[in-house]
Amino acid sequence: MEEAHRTARANAGIRNEARNTMARTTITTQVAIMGAGPAGLMLSHLLAKQGIESVVVEIRSRKEIQETVRAGILEHGTVNLLVDSGVSDRVLRDGDRHDGIELRFNGESHRIDFKELVGESVWLYPQTDVFADLAARREADGGDVRYSVTDTTVHELEGKPKVWFTDAEGREFEIQSDFLVGADGSRSHCRRQIPEAARTQHFHEYPFAWFGILTEAPRSSDELIYANSEHGFALISQRTETVQRMYFQCDPTENVADWDDERIWTELRKRVNGNGFELKEGPVTEKMVLPFRSFVQSPMRHGNLFLAGDAAHTVPPTGAKGLNLAIHDVKVLFEGLDSFYATGSTGLLDSYSDHALDRVWKAQHFSYWMTSMLHSLPGADDFGRARQLGELHSVVSSQHAKAYLAEQYTGWPGSR
Ligand code: DHB
Repeated sequence: MEEAHRTARANAGIRNEARNTMARTTITTQVAIMGAGPAGLMLSHLLAKQGIESVVVEIRSRKEIQETVRAGILEHGTVNLLVDSGVSDRVLRDGDRHDGIELRFNGESHRIDFKELVGESVWLYPQTDVFADLAARREADGGDVRYSVTDTTVHELEGKPKVWFTDAEGREFEIQSDFLVGADGSRSHCRRQIPEAARTQHFHEYPFAWFGILTEAPRSSDELIYANSEHGFALISQRTETVQRMYFQCDPTENVADWDDERIWTELRKRVNGNGFELKEGPVTEKMVLPFRSFVQSPMRHGNLFLAGDAAHTVPPTGAKGLNLAIHDVKVLFEGLDSFYATGSTGLLDSYSDHALDRVWKAQHFSYWMTSMLHSLPGADDFGRARQLGELHSVVSSQHAKAYLAEQYTGWPGSR
């Protein structure tokens, strides 16, 4: 009886498995990519140019990604890759080249002139536009990008990786690939599949967050203003002639519903206005609280799974390094994959994690430094505040310190 029961259960199991296998359509490709943000799409684009096949799966809809407000500053290296690889030259036409920023403290602005200091610039071109350009390019080139998928799971990372997913029509698929790339963002599913014993996670929490707004107002300044004040940090950025982006330091538990326009402008005025400078105000059309933390998971590879972008690291937003790091990761990873398919050599794939992490840690340091130099630290004593002003003065009064800041802000020279 007992034996018969076991056999019946085993048979039922076999039947289920067979049904699953039959229902799941197999897709074979060279590189499976989880995540159709800028990192995943850029990698897919670069691979396609070299004749290397990829399939990209993404749990969000194209519209949802397109409508998420993200940061806006691109390093020159990121711009060059977008333009030179043929994604789009719209960044050069619709983006704004910025040759410097202003550091503002004690009510006075001090310009950091990137062009003069290091001969480089950055571009104000929002991440949503980078995504739109990449998504359009992949679509025009017939790239296989599947948005709005569900039930994604990954298997056999140490062998020939497999991705299971259900598409928007409810059909089940299995992707079989040589390599899997986890470009699936800060809540990465792929990252969590790496066994604990095989990875280290580095965290740093900050005791504040950013309150971000979009406002319908003219530009207050042609360049970005990073303002330190006794009332906390503020950042004045732009989007278009008529829409501006601004942020101010807030408590991480802040609720946007508690902030009407007048309260927001009062806070920004306190932190930025003075000595003849006044923000141009308008109605606030979007408000959000941005999380603030530093995170790195290393190594960025396990077997044939490679992590890229936010899936492997998060930086605080001060300095706008997140997207630029993600694009750098995929550039390095692309070179490794291209070299493998061209020559069979795994050398560049084997050095991917070390190479990418080298820049990740530089960016972690830069974002941490800018954050600590510009934000009010809750509970800081008189010494802490005076020391911070001493640091800001020493930066703006030294050509070397300004050049150090400019070099990091515009993106480190060379591929590392
Ligand atoms: C923007 C965001 C940043 O984090 C930053 O450092 C500069 C600009 C932006 O959204 O415009």
